[in-house]
Amino acid sequence: MIQVLEGRRVGLGVSGGIAAYKALDLCSRLRQMGAEVQVVMTENATRLIAPLAFQTLSGNPVIHAMFDEPARWNVEHIAFAQWVEVMVVAPATANVIGKVAAGIADDFLTTSIMATRAKVLFAPAMNSAMYENPIVQSNIERLRSLGYEFIEPESGWLACGESGKGRLAPVEDIVDRIVRVLGAGAAAGGDAVAGGTKGATAPAGTVATGVPVVAADLRGKTVMVTAGPTREYFDPVRYISNPSSGKMGFEIAREARDRGARVILVSGPVSLEPPAGVEYIPVVTTAEMRDAVISRLESCDALIKSAAVCDYRPAVIHDKKIKKDGRGLDIHFEPNPDILFEAGQRKGRTILVGFAAETDNLVPNAVAKIRKKNLDLIVVNDVTQQGAGFGTDTNAAKIIDPEGNVHEVSLTSKREMARIIVDRVAGLLKTCGE
Ligand code: PMT
Repeated sequence: MIQVLEGRRVGLGVSGGIAAYKALDLCSRLRQMGAEVQVVMTENATRLIAPLAFQTLSGNPVIHAMFDEPARWNVEHIAFAQWVEVMVVAPATANVIGKVAAGIADDFLTTSIMATRAKVLFAPAMNSAMYENPIVQSNIERLRSLGYEFIEPESGWLACGESGKGRLAPVEDIVDRIVRVLGAGAAAGGDAVAGGTKGATAPAGTVATGVPVVAADLRGKTVMVTAGPTREYFDPVRYISNPSSGKMGFEIAREARDRGARVILVSGPVSLEPPAGVEYIPVVTTAEMRDAVISRLESCDALIKSAAVCDYRPAVIHDKKIKKDGRGLDIHFEPNPDILFEAGQRKGRTILVGFAAETDNLVPNAVAKIRKKNLDLIVVNDVTQQGAGFGTDTNAAKIIDPEGNVHEVSLTSKREMARIIVDRVAGLLKTCGE
């Protein structure tokens, strides 16, 4: 099995903004996804972050001076510009954007941008007044009109002590764009599945700056994730469903992808963009989700079932819209298949993680579900707790194993919750493989 970015050549330009420290995380993720990363820093960036940190994470000497002895590139910037398949500048300062817009090429980074035919992505990060400055905005417009792409900064707390738009886009979003531009992975039309695992697994840890290094502990593994609600129609325009947004499952899929897994994401109807590089299988009903999951189960090392599945479906589906006649409407429901139960019967060596949305008696209900459905873990949300469960960006949960051990995770982002769950899955897969 190869990874989503296996062997893809990414140039990472780092210019002199405080968000440069986040580029360490970006560099690490790209490497863990199989990319070859060559970092180019501006001189100002080297004052904020030591090139050695990027060298350690990328596994390549960092280029930062125009006239250094060529460490790797024969004709330096030209060879580099031809080598990259995509160049991403993160963070991109107002200065670097302005220079490129004006055709100035006075250092290695700007010269390479000028010399490359590859797609160039800018991820701006700067003070909000600078970002809103009409000069910066017109430079961005000009570059956009010339085919350069921008990954919009976020609004929020800025290093200068103000709040506003100018914070570097989340690293996960930058990774998504790179994967999309490269057309890598199943979702983007590439082929993420082939023979033989390549390369060594890098250990998890931190670099000197304290920035976490993403582990590639799922390399060679296939993880299926279900997300979102299912819908059961009883006429062409009406259905029953639930408020699942898919956020929890999509974050799990993204996290598993970033840690090197081939990811299959089976989702009910949601309004989220699937993470690039995952194999995306949209479904509507519980029966469709069942078929999608069960037919692929055997090829998976783990199934994480965060979808909120309709337990019932209308016994009759009317083919025409039911007319309103002033009286009540009786709909008879029949049970849907329990996908997780069926998966538990057939799981073999596949690790099964269930979710449970509960309102009371959390632990006893969850332990009963683990046993009934033959699970390796269950993640229980108290959906009555503020900020947890359906639709929110945050979640709180108890993660319970078959022995009844409870790991309490207090309110945190769904992104962080996904990391904790995927950590547990990676641990179980490691134990299985030993
Ligand atoms: O999508 P978000 O807005 O981010 O919200 C996240 C969430 C609240 C939906 C998620 O965290 C969650 O709790 N998902 C499971 C909800 C649920 O359906 O729980 P349950 O107790 O009804 O089901 C238990 C498990 O069996 C679940 O893993 C479910 O996917 C599975 N199941 C249930 C019924 C069925 N017919 N087939 C199943 O496979």
